[in-house]
Amino acid sequence: MSNSAESATAAGGSGETGTVPCGPRHVAIIMDGNGRWAQARGRPRLFGHHAGARRVREVVEACPDLGVKYLTIFAFSTENWKRTQVEVAGLMSLFRRYISKEMQALAARNVRVRFIGDRDRLDAKLTALMDQLEQTTQGNDGTHLTIALNYGGRDEVARATRRLAQDVADGTLKPEDVDEETLPKYLDTHVLPDPDLVIRTSGEARISNFLLWQSAYSEYEFIDTLWPDFTEDELARLCRNFGRRDRRFGAVKT
Ligand code: FPP
Repeated sequence: MSNSAESATAAGGSGETGTVPCGPRHVAIIMDGNGRWAQARGRPRLFGHHAGARRVREVVEACPDLGVKYLTIFAFSTENWKRTQVEVAGLMSLFRRYISKEMQALAARNVRVRFIGDRDRLDAKLTALMDQLEQTTQGNDGTHLTIALNYGGRDEVARATRRLAQDVADGTLKPEDVDEETLPKYLDTHVLPDPDLVIRTSGEARISNFLLWQSAYSEYEFIDTLWPDFTEDELARLCRNFGRRDRRFGAVKT
């Protein structure tokens, strides 16, 4: 089976891949290196996060030409609360500003935005903006942008299991019906295909609790570029690399 056909099967789509033959339909990105980028310029870490936010726009805009239908970005993890109060507050303020500022542009570009993660610990002003952005863009059918905010893969599986267990307790789900098809229906990502390609910037080769269930068969790219330096050209290069990967999903070639 060709790479594009496999991607299309995984995504349940047509396999159309724009200007990159056999490119990934779903790209997920761990946007790392903002802090080091700022420190290298003698500036506070938040300066790097603001520069990183500007990169998000460029990458979202590049997706249609690259045939990337789904883009999922890791903005804040369940572990990021361990940072200083100044950095956490600055990031929350940046997310609020980003949503307010980008709302109209995202809607006009036919981008559909979703958030994944646990909203319970986020402040009411931010969650109201998140709801508003999701509602404003819910009729769009261009790029599906998913922003992981207060997201952790283990936390997501734990929350999913809690809801699943409740359904078993309520008698709406039988234990013997719980399988690989059932569990993902309870995940935050239940409407999304699994990522074809996961990219991590900044030279770190780890997945840091990102999309643990969903990335079982994803291809990975760990690149040295710090997130604020990441460009559309680099994304295009990684999409082309993906087209050369031999994805077998545990099977052998016949
Ligand atoms: C990791 O870099 C980055 C984050 C924890 C925040 C990611 C946030 C953005 C890119 C900003 C905006 C996003 C949206 C959706 C508006 P790091 O701080 O861990 O960098 P370091 O490893 O160099 O310290």
